[in-house]
Amino acid sequence: MPSIETRLTKSLGIEHPILSAPMALAAGGKLAAAVSDAGGFGLIGGGYGDAEFLKQSFRDAGNARVGCGFITWSLAEQTDLLDLVIDHAPTAVMLSFGNPAPFAAKVKSSGAKLICQCQTIAHVQAALDVGADIIVAQGGEAGGHGALRGTMNFVPEVADYLTANAPEVLLLAAGGIADGRGLAAALMLGADGVLIGTRFWASAECLAPDGHLQAAVSSGGDDTLQTSTVDIARGKDWPPDFKVRVRQNAFTDKWHGNETALTAAIQDVADRYMDAYKAGDAENSAAVCGEAIGLIHDIPTAGELVTRIAEEARALLDQNRV
Ligand SMILES: Cc1cc2nc3c(=O)[nH]c(=O)nc-3n(C[C@H](O)[C@H](O)[C@H](O)COP(=O)(O)O)c2cc1C
Repeated sequence: MPSIETRLTKSLGIEHPILSAPMALAAGGKLAAAVSDAGGFGLIGGGYGDAEFLKQSFRDAGNARVGCGFITWSLAEQTDLLDLVIDHAPTAVMLSFGNPAPFAAKVKSSGAKLICQCQTIAHVQAALDVGADIIVAQGGEAGGHGALRGTMNFVPEVADYLTANAPEVLLLAAGGIADGRGLAAALMLGADGVLIGTRFWASAECLAPDGHLQAAVSSGGDDTLQTSTVDIARGKDWPPDFKVRVRQNAFTDKWHGNETALTAAIQDVADRYMDAYKAGDAENSAAVCGEAIGLIHDIPTAGELVTRIAEEARALLDQNRV
């Protein structure tokens, strides 16, 4: 298959400009390795910081070249996890949702590429200040945590900002990209590649409960919302600027907009929420996914997805449609 060569593919030494996102509780070593083995680049989800999970994920990744992503405010509570990851010689480390400054120098001096996920131009400047090699411009359509900007205009705004201020820094688009149309469009918007979460979440290698995946693939793009209720139920102390996008369900219908009552009932709700999650109950625990679920109708292997997305994008770019 002819590949799509961009500054990103050259910089990371990969075939296709496709990265899988470091999805908390979903992206382990098998998913990341499958993406890398298919010619993309996979990131392990460091999530809320579990040393045993990280060690197992790197074992599962075998010899594949992979990276690892952290939720930065959570890493700040367990800084030794960065050393653990760096000991595994990741090709890249991604920092999202918080100040990258305390960790950037260690990542850079390890030789790993520093990827910073950004939701505003102020975040982009903060990432440039600490020497980010790659910026991810994330739109609010994204699955998981995010903020308010739309991918369609945020990506080109960041592209212009980088052209003016740091032309050597690479740009990935994230949020709502699930197929070759999204990849081709992201390249047109000025990105060097894409970071995809939800589409790889709905894959055979994902660690999320199967009941969540099945519910998501039969849902549409109108069926998600950004909410803080899920983090309240899980006891995750997220900064207020970030909400998590999940599939709307009985849990969010009951509690979204009723956060004060949820907090008051938390002891009871938290246990029931975790039991529902373990059972894969997609109505009483949240499937974490983005608006792109409206584009997703199957649960193939991650490797198949890389090939499919790359082939579709290549064909569209070759047609040179206007
Ligand atoms: C299930 C799930 C978990 C996620 N967890 C994280 C995370 O732990 N850290 C992170 O930086 N981004 C996380 N994200 C967001 C992704 O990095 C990325 O921005 C997003 O998936 C892109 O949008 P898309 O889902 O429409 O592809 C997560 C996304 C999903 C779907």
